[in-house]
Amino acid sequence: MTIDALHLLNTRHSVPSRQLGEPAPDAATLARMLEASLRVPDHGKLAPFRILTLRGDAKLTFGAKLAELVMAKNPDLPPSKQEKERHRYDFAPLVLVVVAHIHHDSKVPEFEQNLTAGCVAYNTLLAAQSLGFGAQWLTGWATYDRDVASLLRLADNEHVVGFIHIGTPTIDTPDRDRPALADHLSEWTP
Ligand SMILES: Cc1cc2nc3c(=O)[nH]c(=O)nc-3n(C[C@H](O)[C@H](O)[C@H](O)COP(=O)(O)O)c2cc1C
Repeated sequence: MTIDALHLLNTRHSVPSRQLGEPAPDAATLARMLEASLRVPDHGKLAPFRILTLRGDAKLTFGAKLAELVMAKNPDLPPSKQEKERHRYDFAPLVLVVVAHIHHDSKVPEFEQNLTAGCVAYNTLLAAQSLGFGAQWLTGWATYDRDVASLLRLADNEHVVGFIHIGTPTIDTPDRDRPALADHLSEWTP
């Protein structure tokens, strides 16, 4: 069990959303994946997260509305960038919106609640890969835009943590160079 988990961590990599196609996880597989995703460390057991699914026509409509919004906000956007915006949601058959639901009345700092919601997003990447799917965590301007939050019907105490694009990899994604442990580990001494 330990070896399998380490193997997953050691081989985890994103698959760019443009390289994700059908099929997406079916309903039972998605439920299995997301039940695992929600098992996150959670100070105060606040469960400060929720997940929205975007698929089919709703996903395409969401993508089209984002493209309209970005064009309205940036009328001088170069055509190549407009094209990119228009097609962002066309590829992966499933997009999960991981939302942080912040409990402002809690003693637990907002930062920690965000970390917990981020763990849900990360677990989702791991769960997807462990079941043979590919996934990519994307943010971009839409994550931080309150018009997009309204489109998603988020409450004032909610914000997007990320859009997790999920599907079946259409090509093998080469791994990238990984940080060397020695560059990121040191021993503190008094
Ligand atoms: C919070 C967060 C937001 C990200 N947003 C983007 C993004 O908007 N666009 C992008 O190309 N990559 C984004 N990435 C990076 C990719 O998800 C991915 O991690 C990166 O391409 C490296 O690949 P790897 O996951 O295989 O290490 C984001 C990653 C994180 C953690």
